[in-house]
Amino acid sequence: MAIEFHKESQTFHLHNAWISYIFKVLPSGHLGQLYYGRAIHDRPDFDHLFETAYRSMSVHYFDGEPAYSLEHIKQEYPTCGTGDIHLPALDAAAPNGSRLLDLHYQSHTIAPGKPPLEGGELPSTYVESPDEAVTLTVTLADALAGVTVDLVYTLYEGLPVLTRHAVIGYTGEGTLRLDRAMSFCLDLPDMDYDLVELTGAWARERHVVTRPLAHGVQGVYSLRGCSSHHFNPFLALKRHETTEFAGEVYGFSLVYSGNFAAQADVDPYHVTRVTMGIHPQGFRWDLHSGERFTTPEAVLVYSEQGLNGMSQTYHQLYRTRLARGEWRDKVRPILVNNWEATYFDFTEEKLLGLAAEAKRLGIELFVLDDGWFTNRNDDHGGLGDWQINYEKLPDGIQGFGAKLHEMGLLFGLWIEPEMVNAGTALWNEHPDWVLHEPGRRPQQGRFQYVLDYSNPAVVDWILARLCSVLDGAPIDYIKWDMNRSISDAYSCTAASDAQGMVLHKYILGVYRLYRLLTERYPHILFESCASGGARFDPGMLACAPQCWTSDDTDAVERLRIQYGTSFVYPVSSMGAHVAAAPNHQVGRITSLTMRANVAIFGAFGYELDLTALGEHGQDLVARQVAFVKQYRELLQFGTFWRLKSPFEGNEAAWMTVSSDQLTALVGQYLILQEVNAGYCRLRLAGLDPDRLYRVTRLGSGARAAGQPVTAYGDELMRAGLVTTDEDPASEGDFASHLYLIEAAE
Ligand code: GLA
Repeated sequence: MAIEFHKESQTFHLHNAWISYIFKVLPSGHLGQLYYGRAIHDRPDFDHLFETAYRSMSVHYFDGEPAYSLEHIKQEYPTCGTGDIHLPALDAAAPNGSRLLDLHYQSHTIAPGKPPLEGGELPSTYVESPDEAVTLTVTLADALAGVTVDLVYTLYEGLPVLTRHAVIGYTGEGTLRLDRAMSFCLDLPDMDYDLVELTGAWARERHVVTRPLAHGVQGVYSLRGCSSHHFNPFLALKRHETTEFAGEVYGFSLVYSGNFAAQADVDPYHVTRVTMGIHPQGFRWDLHSGERFTTPEAVLVYSEQGLNGMSQTYHQLYRTRLARGEWRDKVRPILVNNWEATYFDFTEEKLLGLAAEAKRLGIELFVLDDGWFTNRNDDHGGLGDWQINYEKLPDGIQGFGAKLHEMGLLFGLWIEPEMVNAGTALWNEHPDWVLHEPGRRPQQGRFQYVLDYSNPAVVDWILARLCSVLDGAPIDYIKWDMNRSISDAYSCTAASDAQGMVLHKYILGVYRLYRLLTERYPHILFESCASGGARFDPGMLACAPQCWTSDDTDAVERLRIQYGTSFVYPVSSMGAHVAAAPNHQVGRITSLTMRANVAIFGAFGYELDLTALGEHGQDLVARQVAFVKQYRELLQFGTFWRLKSPFEGNEAAWMTVSSDQLTALVGQYLILQEVNAGYCRLRLAGLDPDRLYRVTRLGSGARAAGQPVTAYGDELMRAGLVTTDEDPASEGDFASHLYLIEAAE
């Protein structure tokens, strides 16, 4: 791994075993992008990759040199008004109203390691020792405008990963108004890509959508105040021929949980400009002399091993160098959550009955979801005061938790700390702590309003309230929910010229509260949630190592949701539960086996009334729980491979392989049963080609285990596993099989 600066040619070459990223200081002082892709040999210069050609109608930077146009030079951090005529990375208004900016190279530093992002609260990937990465900071400046930009690049040693962000500084008089400050810009020299994005809505999050790049702007964004169910802060550009297993792909992921924009802008000369960052709509950040603004971090991954290769890199990085805290490397407790079992309608007796059954079946953690506080028997009231409902829990949270601990269960609690309902004491006493414009009726979402987390006093107050509940209570897990999009983003306590900062400061307030809580309660396992997966993003993953993937708990729907989520996020981060049948979201009836076989590829749990399952169902649950305990290290921390996409057909399959390649588990799912169907071979991945394995189709439900067969890894990966079912009628629809692959010698 190295970041070289070739002085003579003024060229930076960031390279490790997998990738090269090359740019140079151009004669004009701008940074020109030369190459990003598979690692190539280092050389003193790469000047031949700097392309210029005269194009009619272009403006040119140097008098008399019509071929030197910033419009056509591929740049590292373009601005506007001074020759580049595309959407810029940076757009700011000087006190005189000028938006012209012309950034020139000033200096750079190269240092081992990776410092946290300047400014404190923005989450980012990290290193545990300085030799894991090297960081380049290039400082650019526009002397007339008094603007500096630090472009920060970190190259990881052991992974094809480059992170980027920018820090904008102001040294001029008066106020510089930032209207757009992207985390990075990358100009790629062609457009022969498919754009891959994760798109959806509530209960159908992160479906994989792929489309060929076309000229013009295409991309994804959120203006909901959270990263959203609708689009994830991620996009990838893959070559048309790239598959899950082979071919080139560039991944771009933003470590941020608020409004974002991620786009590819293809110009008529086929140059593809990729930018990602805070969405400029509604954003405005004022900088006074001496102040600096830090953008969120973007994580760029390059893979030649197809989409699986890209995802495995994200999984490894995000699981071990983005997630943090005591729970990062620990297998996750198997939980039961009472939400779909009881909704708001519970008594302590009912909960303890559920808990006792859970304990009997081997479950480890009982999560008390929404409804444990006063005025919360439906979703119309109660949020904000966080007063325990002693009618439901006569001995309070403390007493209830103690009873669970006595039973040998861990205790988890649901909170939604960013919200308030009308009529609560908080609402009545602090109307100016609710996001809204005085005189204008704010919009409700799920009958609730949004607290102004851009105001530190609000965050401090909520922290104190939560601590008064949590201190002394035996709490092992917290589910932090957030159940509406943000509207009326006006802070009653901020100045008129600070309103454009509200949504970014809101998210910084959320990160701050997470930090304060996780520092104070380091042993608590946090699971983030936002009406299911509206904030399933890298920013949240830095706060909480797992996230409730979706409010849709149907196993068939979950195949697509978990498949899409796995494009970026590790299995250990995906909360996945076995819920009731008929399913509460879609009414579908699937077997307990199918439900578990999907959910085990996640942070596993149950969310149904275990006492109503009957003896047969309970026995099966006990066996599932024992199975997950035996294999969860592999399931949660193994290398995950997507094998067959549920977006492409009737069948889905994935597998996870231990790092020593001695054990693997394959999940195969047949959505609708077919009669007299064609033959079916499932080609596996990630095994040692030269090792002999024993393959066992595991028994489940009424079905006995298959006879083990042996095969070499190469056979399993090339010839494939014969999965054709002997007796389809016995399975019915929504069939699933697990195959255990173990080293045979
Ligand atoms: C959201 C969550 C659910 C549940 C409810 C409680 O919808 O996603 O899992 O916690 O809130 O109100």
